[in-house]
Amino acid sequence: MQHDVCVIGLGRVGLPLALSFADAGLSVLGVDNDPDVLAALRERRMPFKEPGTDELLARVDLDLSHRAADGADARSIVLTLGTPSFSHIEIDMGDIRSVLDDLLPLLQRDQLVVLRSTVAPGTTEFVAGYLEKHRGFTVGEDVFVAHVPERIAADRFMAEIGTLPCIVGGVGEGSGERAAELFAPLGAPIVQTSPVQAELAKIWTNIFRYATFALPNLLMMDCERYDANVFEVIDLINRDYPRGGIGRPGLTAGTCLRKDFTFSEEKSNAPGMLLAVSRVHESVPLFLVDGVKRRLGGGGLRERKIAVLGLAFKADTDDERDSLSHKLIRLLERELADVAVHDPVVATPTSGFEEAIGDADVVIVATNHSAFSRPQALRAVAERAGADCLVVDPWNALGTGQVFAYVSEVVALRA
Ligand SMILES: NC(=O)c1ccc[n+]([C@@H]2O[C@H](COP(=O)([O-])OP(=O)(O)OC[C@H]3O[C@@H](n4cnc5c(N)ncnc54)[C@H](O)[C@@H]3O)[C@@H](O)[C@H]2O)c1
Repeated sequence: MQHDVCVIGLGRVGLPLALSFADAGLSVLGVDNDPDVLAALRERRMPFKEPGTDELLARVDLDLSHRAADGADARSIVLTLGTPSFSHIEIDMGDIRSVLDDLLPLLQRDQLVVLRSTVAPGTTEFVAGYLEKHRGFTVGEDVFVAHVPERIAADRFMAEIGTLPCIVGGVGEGSGERAAELFAPLGAPIVQTSPVQAELAKIWTNIFRYATFALPNLLMMDCERYDANVFEVIDLINRDYPRGGIGRPGLTAGTCLRKDFTFSEEKSNAPGMLLAVSRVHESVPLFLVDGVKRRLGGGGLRERKIAVLGLAFKADTDDERDSLSHKLIRLLERELADVAVHDPVVATPTSGFEEAIGDADVVIVATNHSAFSRPQALRAVAERAGADCLVVDPWNALGTGQVFAYVSEVVALRA
């Protein structure tokens, strides 16, 4: 076998992982079927922003291929393919199935197959059973299968790959050991468990965050109903209270949180609970649009200039996938508003900051990028959009201290 490891799927999870393996001295084959990804990597250019990886890509060697079947020449194969959810709440394993079928006739004794993608409970056992059924292997003896979930957050990969506990769930005797041997050079502590516990730990890491963030968002909507200030209520809850605290509101989505809950929900004993969590987050864009409409009154949003600040799904990342900004923009466009968008981080071309906010009737902070938290940002809105501009900021990034505030009120408050 020519390579120590083959990583299949060079996306936001697979590429930094492949680079980290290469940096740890392993010979690595990276596979992706997207020609644009391979072209960028051949020019040693990162296809997306992930701090620390540009330097790694310039320094380490990565062999590349567009064929999953070429992975069969590696001692270990790591699958980092996307695992979306169908809209009717069921894991879509299409990419994993397709790559497994490519590899199936070529797999050799002693090879390790690792699922690094986020999967529904039972998927690792399914993959092991699939190999046994179609090739007659005994998993754990002839070939090895393990789930080693990725729990690193976007933009934190290089900071966390060497420290975040690496959960390893191996099938049968030997698989956990082989997977631990593969990941040990990355330096993080290895925690061995069963495959299903590894799967549950990963999805519930994200479900916990998703459910936790829903509470301040629901509170924000409650506060609007009772004409209360959510930031003041949160401060009253948390201040010097010794039993934990509530988080802060915001647009919560992204490619993981928005779908990982479905991997529990698809077979839930309490169907609807996590769906309700999702509906809270999914209703925040409409809540903001309705809040604007109520305040602007009569003529609605038609031909009113609305600046949306931020397209990314979270602060300072360039990842727009599954961002609620897009939903917010679509809702505003359906009101016939004139929407101007500015994002200083994403690759999608957007208007400049000053152009977007100039003469805006409404400015909505959709992503809490650090650029919007500088004091100059609010001052620029006051100068360029004027005293009558309505500032909508569920993050309190601009520091208005209210979800909906007219510039004139904010200036008055600060005087
Ligand atoms: N993005 C994150 O922050 C994050 C964090 C933790 C876990 N995860 C999980 O990791 C997995 C991957 O996520 P991602 O964000 O890296 O996805 P991604 O879409 O960025 O990457 C997947 C890559 O696989 C490639 N691909 C698809 N089919 C292929 C095939 N047949 N052969 C070769 N390549 C193929 C695609 O071109 C793409 O580049 C998902 O299960 C996700 O839930 C993601």
